[in-house]
Amino acid sequence: MTGDGADGGHLRIRDATALDASSLAAFAAALFRDTYATSAAPADLESYIAQHFTAAAQTAEIAATDWRTLVAEVDGELVGYAQLWHGPAPACVHGGAGHPGPALEIKRFYVARRWQGRGIAPQLMATCLHTPARGTPIWLGVFAHNSRAIAFYSKCGFRVVGETTFLMGQDPQRDYIMLAPSALESRGSES
Ligand SMILES: CC(C)(COP(=O)(O)OP(=O)(O)OC[C@H]1O[C@@H](n2cnc3c(N)ncnc32)[C@H](O)[C@@H]1OP(=O)(O)O)[C@@H](O)C(=O)NCCC(=O)NCCS
Repeated sequence: MTGDGADGGHLRIRDATALDASSLAAFAAALFRDTYATSAAPADLESYIAQHFTAAAQTAEIAATDWRTLVAEVDGELVGYAQLWHGPAPACVHGGAGHPGPALEIKRFYVARRWQGRGIAPQLMATCLHTPARGTPIWLGVFAHNSRAIAFYSKCGFRVVGETTFLMGQDPQRDYIMLAPSALESRGSES
């Protein structure tokens, strides 16, 4: 996707390649620290970063067929990214009954602080929601105290359908599970 970004800059949203792995890892680590510095213990934060935001880990996720990594750039500057993963999801994503089944999870969704509120996030989300979901719902987990992210996802039509625990290092945190509008529509048409 391409279009006008903030201040008339040129916004481009594209799938990441192996060449993006190092810069994405550094960008993602910095954004993760910025987002959770006041809500997580430094050791838990660094443990998560060391596991997930290395060039090697990002190279693997970018290459994996069950992952999709999107980067958002304004005039070539990395300003945001999103990562989706097709895999098992909690039962509430599937209507609450029966066993957990597969679904498309928006695992990470981040916009650099100085670009927040400037129209990047809605376009990045639109690209996420156009990802082929193989007939499964699209969902995400969000830290229950992350009110700005919850407001943004709600504005995009997501609704809370349950809760889960996210392990930040050794610290279990409460997350809301939110379902994408397309999944909510099909759920509504079934009832
Ligand atoms: C979550 C995120 C991607 C949303 O992008 P954004 O550019 O900030 O989104 P928007 O500005 O379009 O929408 C945010 C909404 O929250 C509102 N908001 C702003 N600050 C808020 C706050 N402290 N509490 C509640 N709502 C808030 C805004 O007013 C806006 O709603 P509006 O457009 O109706 O006014 C971005 O804030 C971000 O990257 N945050 C840090 C990383 C993060 O938390 N990622 C999500 C992990 S699950």
